[in-house]
Amino acid sequence: MIEIQNLHLHYPDGTRALKGIDLAISEGEFLLICGPNGSGKTTLIRLISGLLKPTSGSVHVNGLNPINDSSEVRRMVGMVFQDPDSQIVGETVKEDVAFGPENLGLPVEEITERVDWALQVMGLKDLSEKPCYLLSGGEKRRLAIAGVLAMRPQVVLFDEPFSFLDYPGIREVLKHMVRLHREGHTLIVTTHDVEKVIAHVDRIAIIHDGELKVAGPPEELMMKLSQFGIRPPCYALLGREKVSWLE
Ligand SMILES: Nc1ncnc2c1ncn2[C@@H]1O[C@H](COP(=O)(O)OP(=O)(O)OP(=O)(O)O)[C@@H](O)[C@H]1O
Ligand SMILES: [Mg+2]
Repeated sequence: MIEIQNLHLHYPDGTRALKGIDLAISEGEFLLICGPNGSGKTTLIRLISGLLKPTSGSVHVNGLNPINDSSEVRRMVGMVFQDPDSQIVGETVKEDVAFGPENLGLPVEEITERVDWALQVMGLKDLSEKPCYLLSGGEKRRLAIAGVLAMRPQVVLFDEPFSFLDYPGIREVLKHMVRLHREGHTLIVTTHDVEKVIAHVDRIAIIHDGELKVAGPPEELMMKLSQFGIRPPCYALLGREKVSWLE
């Protein structure tokens, strides 16, 4: 579904953020991209969603180029930003969630139905008339996720989705990720804090200093994480069976 070939990204100040990434992601896969701060995770998923143009190499989503075929790719790929403030566009919670479906040109009834559903799912119903700038950090994160869910994209990219969230919030977001995966959506999650999600993913890709170091099933890579500056989950360190944050 997603094909990344020899992908390089140099920022205007000369930073070489990605140095030749090759990665193929299957339809319906739940992929965890992990790496320490500054390793290139956000850069990689911004390239998949078409927010950045590769310096060289290519990205294809269902055969489409996220830059040249941006409107089709935007319908297919939803991204939850690392910084929720950069995603919020509406004045109120409800207006913000409606923004994406409105841009898809959907009928009014369907927009209303999707907005109500997304607010319900993310526990924001009671805040629907609240101005977005008054929300707490965790509420903003929920709002950003609700906005993406309302678009019903086939592929969902989550950039550090657990930051700002409390324990019930993390479990709620994780529950929806697991549900989206079960329904056949392709999910890509970036984080350096793998503990919360690792029990549910199909594959891990470790990036370090702009290079893809290794990719494979969690059971195989679990104990290699610390070589790349990532803390393995507690259950692996203790030699126990895998434990989900949903248990
Ligand atoms: N707009 C930019 N201009 C210049 N350099 C940038 C820009 N955005 C990111 N970088 C640099 O590119 C590298 C990769 O950054 P990126 O944000 O992709 O890392 P990350 O893995 O997402 O890190 P974090 O875990 O802190 O979110 C870093 O060295 C960063 O300083
Ligand atoms: Mg990042």
